[in-house]
Amino acid sequence: MKAEILTLLCKQEDYISGQQLCEHLGVSRTAIWKVMKRLKEEGYEIDSVSNKGYRLISQPDVLTKEAILSKLQTKYMGQNLVCLKETTSTNTIAKQMAEEKAEEGTLVVANHQTVGKGRRGRVWSSPKNTGIFMTVILKPRIRPEFASMLTIVAAKVLNDVIREVSGLPCMIKWPNDIVVNGKKICGILTELSAEVDYINYIVVGIGINVSMMSFPEELKDKATSILLETGKNSNRAELVAKTMHCFERYYEEFIQTNTLQPLEEEYNKVLINMNKEVKVLSGEESYTGIARGITDKGHLLVEKENHKVEEVYAGEVSVRGLYSYTD
Ligand code: BTN
Repeated sequence: MKAEILTLLCKQEDYISGQQLCEHLGVSRTAIWKVMKRLKEEGYEIDSVSNKGYRLISQPDVLTKEAILSKLQTKYMGQNLVCLKETTSTNTIAKQMAEEKAEEGTLVVANHQTVGKGRRGRVWSSPKNTGIFMTVILKPRIRPEFASMLTIVAAKVLNDVIREVSGLPCMIKWPNDIVVNGKKICGILTELSAEVDYINYIVVGIGINVSMMSFPEELKDKATSILLETGKNSNRAELVAKTMHCFERYYEEFIQTNTLQPLEEEYNKVLINMNKEVKVLSGEESYTGIARGITDKGHLLVEKENHKVEEVYAGEVSVRGLYSYTD
């Protein structure tokens, strides 16, 4: 009931009467009053005026189930929602839930991770109250070799949402880092469980640096947050809800077409590597070239000195000057 009341308060710009709420939810005025009291205790500023009713004035920046659900406008993405104050890693929890047959679109969100995981075995700094750490479970009926395309889809989603919410001119470093002013603001870790020809599930883990004011020494030159870049606070629940909404749209488009063709052109417009010199590190091998954008499979085209164009599928690609050349 708390989530429903919050949703109604968020939707209504003017006062909503106690009577309207009672009728809508089929509960007593005392029950409504109790929920309002709890919401106020949690930091929601609610004006209550006799004969007029209740009006939401401001919301705290909390990652609770009610806060997210009150803003969520999706068919299924994020509707099955687990919010944790603290966990090891939302990817680990999501994988456990997927093994236990959690439905597609299930979302695990945490306010703090004790063992946040980054790509290539790195640690993902996950301090409490300042970031978004979330993982969505997907069960696409696509061939396993197409799974990596989802990281491209996710990057485009996050780039769009962070731009919309913050106004920052963020860009994508192939395949899926979101960067602003040469520093990383969001990272994505996709993990897959598959048979040779069948995907059991994919978990897409997303870490967004929202309101960190500082980073550990080793990340200082490589990481930034929305707050550091804009000087403004963002509402994390709103960011989560908007991410799910955009993800659902792009994911469905991808599932129907099995290609990145609908996204390719827009992705290439925000690709920070575009027409820049990149260093490709793949296993023992390394070479430099000029990035020429992604293909409809999400591979990076790299033009070598001899003008031969290579398609890079995986491996590390570094851009000179962007949070260190070798990353
Ligand atoms: C990267 O190295 O860029 C990927 C970082 C991914 C971090 C997110 S935070 C939520 C989810 N849980 C994790 O342990 N990692 C991902």
